[in-house]
Amino acid sequence: MKEQIHIPVLKEEVLSFLNPQKNQNFVDCTAGMGGHALALLERNGPEGKVLALEWDTDLYKLLKNKKRLLVFNESYTRLEEIVERENFHPISGILFDLGFSSFHTERSGRGFSFMKDEPLDMRYNKNTLLTAEKIVNQYKEKDLFYIFRKWGEEKYAREIARNIVSKRKKEPIKTTKDLARIIEKSVPSSYKSQRINCATKTFQSLRIAVNGEIMNMKEGLTQALRVLPKKGRIAVITFHGIEEKTLLDFIKENNLFLLTKKPITPRIEEIKNNIRSRSAKLRVIIK
Ligand SMILES: C[S@@+](CC[C@H](N)C(=O)[O-])C[C@H]1O[C@@H](n2cnc3c(N)ncnc32)[C@H](O)[C@@H]1O
Repeated sequence: MKEQIHIPVLKEEVLSFLNPQKNQNFVDCTAGMGGHALALLERNGPEGKVLALEWDTDLYKLLKNKKRLLVFNESYTRLEEIVERENFHPISGILFDLGFSSFHTERSGRGFSFMKDEPLDMRYNKNTLLTAEKIVNQYKEKDLFYIFRKWGEEKYAREIARNIVSKRKKEPIKTTKDLARIIEKSVPSSYKSQRINCATKTFQSLRIAVNGEIMNMKEGLTQALRVLPKKGRIAVITFHGIEEKTLLDFIKENNLFLLTKKPITPRIEEIKNNIRSRSAKLRVIIK
């Protein structure tokens, strides 16, 4: 896994807002393949460090043994504990680049993409117990409906949930293609000719449910605020409406000051070069 599978999104914009200076320390809560973390390290030498957290063990292994990078295979819901244990102070800025990496859809083999035929897993961290297969085969119809509607904002959540339950009575739903076929049969043909694939929202909602993403996000942001000194910055890149709403609610509840009046979105050239960036929005909070 040497080549760059995941292109860091809004990298220059993140650098410009976190504005790393010589010897400052930063935290990257979602290190992935390290695109942002390494870019910060290019600017904060000779003594500045980056503390990086990556929940996925396969990705974490790629980042080990880099100078001035303290990397841990942990969820950012343990941010405060790790920062205190490592006595990682003062922190100038913290980054959350939310969701999954291109590694997950392209290489993980864990069923993040409806474009591939893979087991329905969707876990970032293989030590956690809940998988997409368990949800799809064991949850009650009303709970499936709730997940698809709440975390996917899926218009046809009711139909998809109903068809999953009827299909699994005959045989268990095992793979991404099995699920994608059920979704296709549950929605009208007009829905299939839209810009985004008709399975996108259901898959998104399952990934969120499997990994507890929204709960984690609230917890991670809360801890980020606690470990950051006054005037420290938190940069957050969201990729869909649920993440955006969670972030905006958090900002409101904590009465925080947004440095970005409007969310920063990628330039056309970036979107051409990396289609995944098209839904990215960067917001920066100052404590
Ligand atoms: C959008 S990617 C980050 C990409 C990264 N900025 C880069 O340039 O390669 C998000 C990463 O966050 C990780 N992740 C998701 N939830 C996490 C959590 N609770 N704690 C730590 N990492 C998490 C995922 O495994 C994924 O690799």
